[in-house]
Amino acid sequence: MAQCRAFMLLMLVLYAQAQAQVSDDYYYPDPALDTKEQEAVYSVLEAANPEVDWRSAYPSDLCSAGPHGVACDPDSANSSLAHVTKLSLGWVSDYSNNPPCSATNASFSPSILNLPFLNSLFFYRCFVAESRNGTFTLPPYLGSLGPQLEELVLHENTAISGAVPQELGALVGLRRLVISGSLLAGPVPFELGNLARIEKIDLSNNELSGCVPDSIGGLGALVVLDLSRNNLSCTIPSSLGNLSKLSKLDLSENVFSGEIPAAFARLIILEMLDLSRNNLSGGFPSIISKMRHLRDLQLSENPLGGSLPDEIWRHLVGLVSLGASRTDLVGEIPSSMGELHGLAHLALDHNALTGSIPFELSRLESIQHMDLSSNRLTGVVPFSADFVGRLGPKLRLEGNAGLCCGSEMTPSFAMRLDFGGCSAASMGQSLIDRGSIHGSHGSRPLVKSSLLLFGALLFVLVWCLNWF
Ligand SMILES: *[C@@H]1O[C@H](CO)[C@@H](O)[C@H](O)[C@H]1NC(C)=O
Ligand SMILES: *[C@@H]1O[C@H](CO)[C@@H](O)[C@H](O)[C@H]1NC(C)=O
Ligand SMILES: *[C@@H]1O[C@H](CO)[C@@H](O)[C@H](O)[C@H]1NC(C)=O
Ligand SMILES: *[C@@H]1O[C@H](CO)[C@@H](O)[C@H](O)[C@H]1NC(C)=O
Ligand SMILES: *[C@@H]1O[C@H](CO)[C@@H](O)[C@H](O)[C@H]1NC(C)=O
Ligand SMILES: *[C@@H]1O[C@H](CO)[C@@H](O)[C@H](O)[C@H]1NC(C)=O
Repeated sequence: MAQCRAFMLLMLVLYAQAQAQVSDDYYYPDPALDTKEQEAVYSVLEAANPEVDWRSAYPSDLCSAGPHGVACDPDSANSSLAHVTKLSLGWVSDYSNNPPCSATNASFSPSILNLPFLNSLFFYRCFVAESRNGTFTLPPYLGSLGPQLEELVLHENTAISGAVPQELGALVGLRRLVISGSLLAGPVPFELGNLARIEKIDLSNNELSGCVPDSIGGLGALVVLDLSRNNLSCTIPSSLGNLSKLSKLDLSENVFSGEIPAAFARLIILEMLDLSRNNLSGGFPSIISKMRHLRDLQLSENPLGGSLPDEIWRHLVGLVSLGASRTDLVGEIPSSMGELHGLAHLALDHNALTGSIPFELSRLESIQHMDLSSNRLTGVVPFSADFVGRLGPKLRLEGNAGLCCGSEMTPSFAMRLDFGGCSAASMGQSLIDRGSIHGSHGSRPLVKSSLLLFGALLFVLVWCLNWF
């Protein structure tokens, strides 16, 4: 009996400890949230979702017993005082179940300015198409959130229209600015050039227009610049060549015209450059040979013109993907492209390339996808039956009337390649399989040690009761 009681006591203590650790890492009371900030959080939540009675649902201190998505830090001078440092609204997933926004009546609240320690503000699908029929605009007062704000992320708020407020340029502490997947129109404000500490700007998938201001080139800390899928025009400013820390530059799906700036030769640590689907001309940019870390280069669907350079490829040994479809390329495919040992994807289709396919391309040991279709290539296909078999439908050569298969290629391969042997001329059906593989992410349930302990406690309780 005594053993049993002692054991139960031990289990109880362990359980209580585990519970204490689950709710809080400390054994002393939580620092209290400043009442003004508590009120501000209620107002922001009520504006985002008036359908929930937030005050009844979360009646006590919002730092210690608030919804997921409200995060706090203790005051640096007074440890019995806490401040809201992070607000995330809009349900993302079961593991990031932020307060949901109303599907019909979400809005911003200026009370957010009463959170002077706010470091990060995140809205995901809060202001969506159903809400107020797309009449949301970004309030200029967001620019008054203060220099402590490091992160402003508005993702897929599909009903926000209007301009990017120039006032955002006052958020001089900002390191991440993401406003993607909305209906923002008008220019990229010149004032964003004041964000001296900014590391990531993502204004992709909006309807921004006009020129990119030169001032963006002054943001020396910028690592990622994504302005893709807008309606931006003019030439690409040369000043972007000053962004010496840039690792990813995505300007795809706009209407930029003119040449790719020669100043891009200074972007020597760039890993990803996507300029596809614009109106860029001036030939294939040889300056990419200076980008020794380049892995992903996308230039497709631009009237570049000219021919593929010869001397640059051996400097680009890290290149994994090269897209130059529909770029008005003429001339031959240089055999030096065979030096791209890491190349997995090569798309040069729908150009006016002539000559034969260099034998060296058959030595691209990492290649998984090669599209040379719809050009004016001629002569014997240099690929072995092995190579053709390995790539399967991801090798596309159709639409080159002058190509033919060598004697070592079986007729079925010739069929798949959509043309015949060099003497025969049998046409097969065209290959349209462009399937891609999507990895599926399994989710693992979280096993909480406190749950296990609780189970053990129950077991012991039942066991002890049996003794009586
Ligand atoms: C939307 O919410 C506001 C309060 O934020 C309220 O005054 C208004 O009546 C609500 N409108 C609808 C249509 O629910
Ligand atoms: C710390 O904050 C608490 C709660 O607001 C307050 O009661 C206390 O006086 C403060 N202490 C100091 C030293 O400012
Ligand atoms: C939104 O537009 C639809 C039709 O376009 C209309 O039926 C609905 O009443 C509008 N809602 C609001 C809040 O204006
Ligand atoms: C894009 O901008 C042009 C003017 O540069 C304008 O005529 C066109 O309507 C805009 N398209 C969209 C979808 O906003
Ligand atoms: C940035 O680039 C522009 C154009 O290439 C140049 O005129 C300017 O001097 C550069 N500024 C700095 C600070 O390097
Ligand atoms: C594309 O660029 C050319 C000059 O290179 C220009 O004449 C033409 O108007 C541009 N097209 C569009 C849609 O911007």
